[in-house]
Amino acid sequence: MNAPLKILTIFGTRPEAIKMFPLVHALEADERFCSRVCVTGQHRGMLDQVLEIAGIVPHHDLDLMQPDQTLDGLTASLLTAIGTVLDEEQPDWVVVQGDTATAMSGALAAYYRKIPVAHVEAGLRSGNIHHPWPEEVNRKIIGSMAGLHFAPTKTAQAALLRENVAPETVHVTGNTVIDALHWITARIDRQPGLAANLAPLEKRFAGKRIIGVTSHRRENFGDGMENIAEAIRQLAARGDVAMIFPVHLNPNVRQVMNQELGGLENVALIEPLDYPHFARLIAISTLMLTDSGGVQEEAPALGKPVLVMRETTERPEGVEAGTALLVGTDATRIAAQANRLLDDASAYAAMARAHNPFGDGRTSARILDLLAR
Ligand code: UD1
Ligand code: UDP
Repeated sequence: MNAPLKILTIFGTRPEAIKMFPLVHALEADERFCSRVCVTGQHRGMLDQVLEIAGIVPHHDLDLMQPDQTLDGLTASLLTAIGTVLDEEQPDWVVVQGDTATAMSGALAAYYRKIPVAHVEAGLRSGNIHHPWPEEVNRKIIGSMAGLHFAPTKTAQAALLRENVAPETVHVTGNTVIDALHWITARIDRQPGLAANLAPLEKRFAGKRIIGVTSHRRENFGDGMENIAEAIRQLAARGDVAMIFPVHLNPNVRQVMNQELGGLENVALIEPLDYPHFARLIAISTLMLTDSGGVQEEAPALGKPVLVMRETTERPEGVEAGTALLVGTDATRIAAQANRLLDDASAYAAMARAHNPFGDGRTSARILDLLAR
């Protein structure tokens, strides 16, 4: 048998960790590979929540997060610190996920050393370099360097082929987020206590319909965040709904939300939830209001309508299937669309269909077979 391939996975934020842990589990269990893990600590608390539930102990933790970090400061420190790890590890492949500063810097540091890069969740494109910002460009930069592109859907594959990426390097694998969702759902089934901490809120809001809310996008800072807060305030005027909003640790989000929404009786501003509790939040919600990428994939998979508070999306599949709706960041429009779903049972039923263009839960296995080739 050949020597195992040394695979270094690099990730640093909450969504990357959620979408990489199934792959790390699979790599660890497969003797074709020697799995090494580097976390950058671009996020700290929100990354650690995922590492803990997934039982991953990284070989390298660069612990780079700074309060209110800037894109250039963060990128500069990522690039040099990851470079040092690559020099030490000398992996056969580097695997990065998505579109964060960590993913882009990890790919670039590997490219500078002629180490091949495999890109998980490749080919998502909004077509607008300012939405999502800076993720659209990060993802394109990684795409220009990767030797293997794991596109979650045919739409993503087509985007890469339009950019003249070599077709034999592009593979439609599904998205590992569905692997993660299956894994966490099975864990909660076995151990319901893992997702039990929302019970007091569920009790407090008994009889009301729950709306799950998340918001964190950099392009929404300022007016966008104010508008999102205003939409929530308008919806809170209804007596029959309650909003549960785990607030992202970014100070630009927390400051606005605490100031605008603190003290409203039927809005619970809570700390970021760990993954089992967030899965529970989706499950108990009537609908999700979000600007998150991952939530746009998870909510449709769980049959929950999702109103996407963004101007464009690089994940058109949910919108095309009718389970997600782009509502932008205008307060009146967000509230009007939410009210429509709350008041019109047929409009709600049309959106509340489980639909899963993002995978079947076997994406990691496919990726491993492609890496092993
Ligand atoms: C980052 C990613 C974004 C991704 C998002 C997921 C980039 C450029 N942005 O955005 O693509 O959608 O993560 O959440 O890579 N903070 C904490 N603790 C944490 C996490 C963040 O305190 O666990 C605070 C810190 O003050 C930090 C700030 O949030 O400086 C911003 O973090 P950063 O990773 O730069 O940006 P995000 O907005 O989280
Ligand atoms: N998530 C979580 N706890 C929360 C909010 C979100 O575990 O309080 C999960 C969610 O299930 C999804 C991911 O975090 O898998 C999305 O991360 P985020 O919105 O921070 O980033 P994005 O997906 O927009 O890059």
